[in-house]
Amino acid sequence: GLKKKEMNVLCIGLDNSGKTSIINKLKPDKSQTQDIVPTVGFTVEKFMSQSLNFTVFDMSGQGRYRNLWEHYYKTAQAVIFVLDSSDRLRMVVAKEELDILLQHSEIAARRVPILFFANKMDCKEALSPVQCSQKMGLDAILNKPWHICASNALSGEGLTDGVDWLTDQIR
Ligand code: GTP
Ligand code: MG
Repeated sequence: GLKKKEMNVLCIGLDNSGKTSIINKLKPDKSQTQDIVPTVGFTVEKFMSQSLNFTVFDMSGQGRYRNLWEHYYKTAQAVIFVLDSSDRLRMVVAKEELDILLQHSEIAARRVPILFFANKMDCKEALSPVQCSQKMGLDAILNKPWHICASNALSGEGLTDGVDWLTDQIR
C-alpha cells in the first residue's frame, strides 16, 4: 500500500552538543517544546520528512549514560552524531566516542550511514564542518556513507540539508 517507510535512527554525541534541540526543531511547530533540559537516559521521538517516518532514539550524552548507546546500535538503520562545533576542547572526547562506535561489532560490519551535524554554527568560535571533520578524522571512515553539515538547532538552519541526505541513503 501507501504506507510510509520507517527509519530507525540513533542520535548520539556529547552532552550539551544539541541533540535534543535538533530533534525538537525537526518536529512540527505545534509539537515543539520551548524548554529543553539535559536528557536523562534517553527519549524516543518521532518526526516525518518527505516520504519517511523517522523514529529517533535521543540518547543522553552525559558520561554516566554513554554506556546505554551500544544497546541501540543493533536496531539503528542510521546514526546522527552531533558535534558542538564551538567546543574545541572536547572534540577529542567526541572522537573517542566515535571510535568506540565505529569499532563496535554491531556497527563495524554494517553499512550504517552516519550524519554529522557540526552544530552551534552561530557561535563565534565555531569550527567549520571541514575543520570538525579533520579533528574527528572522518576521512578514515571508508566503509560507510557519511556526511557532515553545519547546523544551528535554534534557527533550524542546516537541518534539512542533513535530513535530506539521510533520506537519500535508504531510498
Ligand atoms: P544531553 O541531553 O545532555 O546529551 O544534551 P543535548 O546534546 O541533547 O543538548 P541540548 O539539546 O539539551 O542543548 C544543550 C544546550 O545547547 C542548550 O542550552 C541549547 O539551547 C544549546 N544549543 C543547542 N543547539 C544550539 C545551537 O545550534 N546554537 C546555540 N547557540 N546553542 C545551541
Ligand atoms: Mg538531550
